[in-house]
Amino acid sequence: MISKKLEKAINKQINEELFSAYLYTSMQAWFADESLDGMANWMKAQAQEEHYHAMKFFDYLIERGGKVELHAIAKPDIDFGNPLKAFQASLDHERYITKCINEMMDLAIAENDHATRIFLQWYVEEQVEEEASVDTIVQRLSRVGDNMHGIYMLDRELASRTFTWPQEEE
Ligand code: FEO
Repeated sequence: MISKKLEKAINKQINEELFSAYLYTSMQAWFADESLDGMANWMKAQAQEEHYHAMKFFDYLIERGGKVELHAIAKPDIDFGNPLKAFQASLDHERYITKCINEMMDLAIAENDHATRIFLQWYVEEQVEEEASVDTIVQRLSRVGDNMHGIYMLDRELASRTFTWPQEEE
């Protein structure tokens, strides 16, 4: 049985991950409106991945005898300025999520909950990847500047991203 403190922290994180999905869906809409369909596609895949992150916490909490409690999801921004600012906002958000995961890990250690610690390890590694992939795009957009040809090249590249819901182990 999971502790009440960890139950509360996981419920909060489910909300953070669902908000992430909502934020990236808002970015998808913004990119689509800017006719940058490849970047819109990248955000769509990112939103789907965030939903997976939320449901992984959801399933784990139930498995550990906790109670899932869903809260209201905040309204995300709707205007992101330009592609660089949008991806920079995404990077800032991922850094914030990394901080949330690290705080949960601190709590799991303090509560002596080894199962949760091992479970959270997946998210610790995932956040390294999440930050690195967005950071690469931010760096490339910074170099490209206002050059529309460079932006369209990157847009075409990001059109190939897909997300496949991973098979859960039984
Ligand atoms: Fe679920 Fe992008 O962190």
